[in-house]
Amino acid sequence: MIYVTIDGPAGSGKSSVAAGLAKKLGFKHLNTGNLYRGVALLWLKAGRPEFSQEFFDMIDKKHFSVLDSAIIMNGEVHEDDLRTLEVGKVVSKVAEVPEIRKIITDKSRDIVKSDNFVVEGRDIGTVVLPDAFLKIFLTASVEERAERRYKELIAKNSKADFEDIINEIKTRDSIDSSREIAPLKPALDAVTVLTDGLSLDDVIEKIYNLYRERIKIAEN
Ligand code: CDP
Repeated sequence: MIYVTIDGPAGSGKSSVAAGLAKKLGFKHLNTGNLYRGVALLWLKAGRPEFSQEFFDMIDKKHFSVLDSAIIMNGEVHEDDLRTLEVGKVVSKVAEVPEIRKIITDKSRDIVKSDNFVVEGRDIGTVVLPDAFLKIFLTASVEERAERRYKELIAKNSKADFEDIINEIKTRDSIDSSREIAPLKPALDAVTVLTDGLSLDDVIEKIYNLYRERIKIAEN
């Protein structure tokens, strides 16, 4: 299978870029952040319980799959409810738990095992798919990332406060980059793409061209 991985901080545009690139390449798309958000949603629904073996077993037993930008957990479709500020505020805490990371890493590998995929997240090039064909680290300034998230929420008629969003992004960046297991960082062989001032199409085109170059090299 061919895998293109896109890692990067909150709001760097991974989701739109990964979806657009997958379409252009004819690949499927997995947003692993949505799997962590799904677990965060289950944790909130369960009343924020202790992270115990009982909770891990409950998550592990659930069947996870993806459909476009939605995820399906035991037949239930989740999409907009994954991207609320409430989920955003707890997801990094949930994603820090080693047992949860192991479960989601295994489920992610299982989801992508029989198709070509563009896979996005924080640790895809470093931990989940270290042998991927092309690894991208997508990043942008905090202000630009907050602006994008703000517009995304407004477009969906969700509640949005710019200061709140900046703070949420900074907090998540700091937890994600400093955690002991699978911290957010570029893989040694990743290509870093800074997206400040670039349009979505520009970024997709740039990565698409990198992919074509790699294919040419691989064919020769
Ligand atoms: O879209 P956005 O950049 O806001 O984040 P996301 O991709 O939906 O991921 C939400 C959170 O899940 C991140 O802030 C990380 O804490 C966690 N995550 C992770 O730890 N590892 C991944 N591979 C993907 C997400």
